[in-house]
Amino acid sequence: MNHFLDIHKTSAEDLRAMIDSAKSVKSARAGLPKAAPDQDLPLKDRMVALIFEKPSTRTRVSFDVGVRQMGGQTMVLSGTDMQLGHGESIADTARVLSRYVDMIMIRTFEETTLLELAEHASVPVINGLTNRTHPCQIMADIQTFEEHRGSIKGKKVVWCGDGNNVCASFLHAAGQFGFDLTFTGPEPLDPEAEFVDLARANGSTVEIIRDPIEAVQGADLVVADTWVSMHDSQTTKERRHNQLRGYQVNDALMSHAKDDALFMHCLPAHREEEATSSVMDGKHSVIFDEAENRLHAQKAVMRWCMQG
Ligand code: CP
Ligand code: NVA
Repeated sequence: MNHFLDIHKTSAEDLRAMIDSAKSVKSARAGLPKAAPDQDLPLKDRMVALIFEKPSTRTRVSFDVGVRQMGGQTMVLSGTDMQLGHGESIADTARVLSRYVDMIMIRTFEETTLLELAEHASVPVINGLTNRTHPCQIMADIQTFEEHRGSIKGKKVVWCGDGNNVCASFLHAAGQFGFDLTFTGPEPLDPEAEFVDLARANGSTVEIIRDPIEAVQGADLVVADTWVSMHDSQTTKERRHNQLRGYQVNDALMSHAKDDALFMHCLPAHREEEATSSVMDGKHSVIFDEAENRLHAQKAVMRWCMQG
């Protein structure tokens, strides 16, 4: 049984195989209606629980549609409606759910919730975002980059803004897929040193450059995300805006990246804050391909989990 907990906890070979599988299943489905089943029905007769302790549009819908395309059924659960949100232990929740379902995807706050669920579940557990990481997003992003520009190995990715959970998974992926990452943002919002060190230990060049114009020079991919994440207190909002205003991805900033640089954002976005609509809807942007590829990449992740 394979859990998909984080990019750095999965072998580079398996990650590569998942991206390749996502691309080929996507192309085999080209032109099919959204609810048409995949030919081999890898989740036939399988039940998958999708647990959300935070809001979601993409993760929720892409997992639900993906499971159905693979022949399985889903149960979407809100953390607050479960006993989990009212004092039942995570370990007991894991043991009980494992008697009913074949796989669990959870979006939660604390990473410890995810890890404890995986420790006590006897079925695969998938990380659908925690305060610290968002690995499914980055699988979709790697697929998207490669569909547009070929292998991401050796490319320069620039993260602009808050060194948050999505940035952390990009750092994990840098080590596993062999690309370099430059972070540009204010020092208090630097990514966790542990993640930076891990990427460097795995052979990636990771740079932290305060000047965004200098940072995006030679970028193959520029990435932005919300300045205030779901787990951040709303009282930080004004401070964050003051800290990050200079890191907005706009046309002027993109003009310093490579001419054929891509722009990504995991969405949801606050348009005209972390990125302007002129960039989000402009020639560099692949944001809706990213959103679509959540579906294809996660199907590959689920297939891998069940094969294990
Ligand atoms: N990108 C992403 O995970 O979106 P949702 O919060 O809508 O799931
Ligand atoms: N960093 C964002 C990502 C949302 C998909 C958050 O955690 O809210």
